[in-house]
Amino acid sequence: MTVTTPRSLGAPVERVDGLAKVTGEARYAYENGPASPVYAVPVQATVARGEVTRVDVDSVLTSPGVIAAMWCANAPRLAAGEGADAAVLQSRRVAYRGQYVAAVIAATYEQAREAARTLHVEYSAEPHDVELRADHPGLYRPSHVNPALPADTLRGDPEAALAAAPVVVDETYRTPAEHHNPMEPHATVAVWEGDGLTVYDSTQGPAASRDRLAALFGMPPAQVRVVSPYVGGGFGSKLALHPHVVLAVLAAKQVGRPVKVAVTRHEMFSVTGYRTPTIQRVRLGAERDGRLIAITHDVYEQTSTVGEFAEQAAAATRIMYAAPHRSTTHRLVRLDVPTPTWMRAPGEAPGMFALESAMDELAVACGVDPVELRVRNEPAADPESGLPFSSRNLVACLREGARRFGWAGRDPKPGVRRAGRFLVGTGVAASTYPVLRRPSRATARAEPGGGFTVRIAAAEIGTGARTVLTQIAADTLGVPLDAVRVVVGDSALPAGAIAGGSMGTASWGTAVVRACEAMNRELTSWGGTVPPLGLEASADTAEEVKTQEEYSRHAFGAQFAEVGVDAATGETRVLRMLGVFAAGRILNPRTARSQFVGGMTMGLSMALLEESVLDTEFGDYLNNDLAQYHIAACADVRDIEAVWVEEEDPHLNPMGSKGIGEIGIVGASAAIANAVHHATGVRVRDLPIRLDKLI
Ligand code: MOS
Repeated sequence: MTVTTPRSLGAPVERVDGLAKVTGEARYAYENGPASPVYAVPVQATVARGEVTRVDVDSVLTSPGVIAAMWCANAPRLAAGEGADAAVLQSRRVAYRGQYVAAVIAATYEQAREAARTLHVEYSAEPHDVELRADHPGLYRPSHVNPALPADTLRGDPEAALAAAPVVVDETYRTPAEHHNPMEPHATVAVWEGDGLTVYDSTQGPAASRDRLAALFGMPPAQVRVVSPYVGGGFGSKLALHPHVVLAVLAAKQVGRPVKVAVTRHEMFSVTGYRTPTIQRVRLGAERDGRLIAITHDVYEQTSTVGEFAEQAAAATRIMYAAPHRSTTHRLVRLDVPTPTWMRAPGEAPGMFALESAMDELAVACGVDPVELRVRNEPAADPESGLPFSSRNLVACLREGARRFGWAGRDPKPGVRRAGRFLVGTGVAASTYPVLRRPSRATARAEPGGGFTVRIAAAEIGTGARTVLTQIAADTLGVPLDAVRVVVGDSALPAGAIAGGSMGTASWGTAVVRACEAMNRELTSWGGTVPPLGLEASADTAEEVKTQEEYSRHAFGAQFAEVGVDAATGETRVLRMLGVFAAGRILNPRTARSQFVGGMTMGLSMALLEESVLDTEFGDYLNNDLAQYHIAACADVRDIEAVWVEEEDPHLNPMGSKGIGEIGIVGASAAIANAVHHATGVRVRDLPIRLDKLI
């Protein structure tokens, strides 16, 4: 008998864990772990550079509830990483203001916090340097930029081509430091049992986190377990192993009790990463009709003295437009600041603000429509590698977007449309994000009582990973959705890739498909019946991912924005945004739309609001809370729509999907800045577009 099951991939399936989340049944990091833990609260450095000379541990040991106070003189030693970011309390050196220099462990959170507040720390302070400048004498070329790309590229002779080009745009764009603020702040519960360590954490990669902790503490990975069933957002801040995790594990070791650490919103502005500020010079040389002859993109960014993070801000420029002469460079400087980290579309988000603003300036300079300008510069193959694109539908996105947005007949003249108090304008920008995939493992189990369980150490960070993996498994097994249970968020499960780089679904999904295919073969050999003890099948995609054919794989999109700028105050309102994306097969339109719209909202926020303001005197970011660090709220978001064009790409993965978690933010800020120029005639080249830059 054959039962036909409707395929669930492509259907707007509701989140399988939605009910658990809205009823509070879902447990987040801080809610997990043993019933009676103790609490560690850190003390943060008040100087940006120098040494800790003394910590008056004895002064707090008599405070109510205090069990211990730790600093580098008495903290347990780590096996690796002195001088590195994760080497918490291993050295007297202070590398940035806000760095953890001590911690108090007490019976309650309040007792620990009170004692930490009064703990006396003495420093010998040194002059600090926290300011990124394009002429900083400490600038250097990193060996590569993230994830493993060359720092510089050069094709042809861009200098000569620019000197001879009939039209040249040569401008410098700036993006500020930005801090991730996921709904759930970082939190860790650390539990030692004999030689074994269990860590309940809010992480985008339980398996990767397990491996890093094992290396730091000199343990076999099998003795470390990282449990992370639910994560309340990450945006990249929960990829690297941040100091609070190490602090929790050290504290638990020190006192021989389970320890909880909750990172406060304030602390997140110094210890859990941020997007580097950038200074970017873009030069475009073109024929009078807008056809590009030369593109150069030179990026200046910061990193810290205890870690190198080299954001790939010019990487997208390498693949976007045809031009025979081209170069990209990245330069870093080590400042007395925290180490930057991954933040939604690291590289593409700031880089495409610069490139797509410059393209708009070129459209104005040539008198060519900005949609048409991009179509005119569409490359036949990857312009730097020469590889064919596995699929590239930027032009289809631009055309479909122009049609839906009502672009036709747009008057290019800036500063002439008025609606009441508002000057009104429209803008467009292209969007892109690379298609990545990493090896993963998964198991599928046919339960003797019926149904299937799929296990993989994937991370559910709110994107809908559990849901889409359930769809993938159900379709491969040919069973209804409710016959499949997917277990994720635990390093004890078969190792899965990180929830980062928009590669989660592609990486985990491939492993889930292969494990379920293996299960189908098992079932066939058992004549379709499940033996009394159940059946298990597994898969490892290391070989499949490694031997994938060479293509240039990227998702593309077109961002359109309409803004109204108050002619008296300079306040900008984004009246509507439309994103059109080409990202392979869309596996779940409901969760996909949410990713696209979420990314575009973050792009709106980046364009108008987000800015971590540096206090050069004290050497840290001073607007360290949600009252002062502004993030788009519901009232800022009037009308954001995301749609997609059909894209069949056989060169990706068994699902035919491209990642969708990050592309939504890319180009959104440029579309808004370009619309602001169209509305007002003012070109803002340094984000965010505050009203003082417009009046
Ligand atoms: Mo994303 S910044 O790779 O979480």
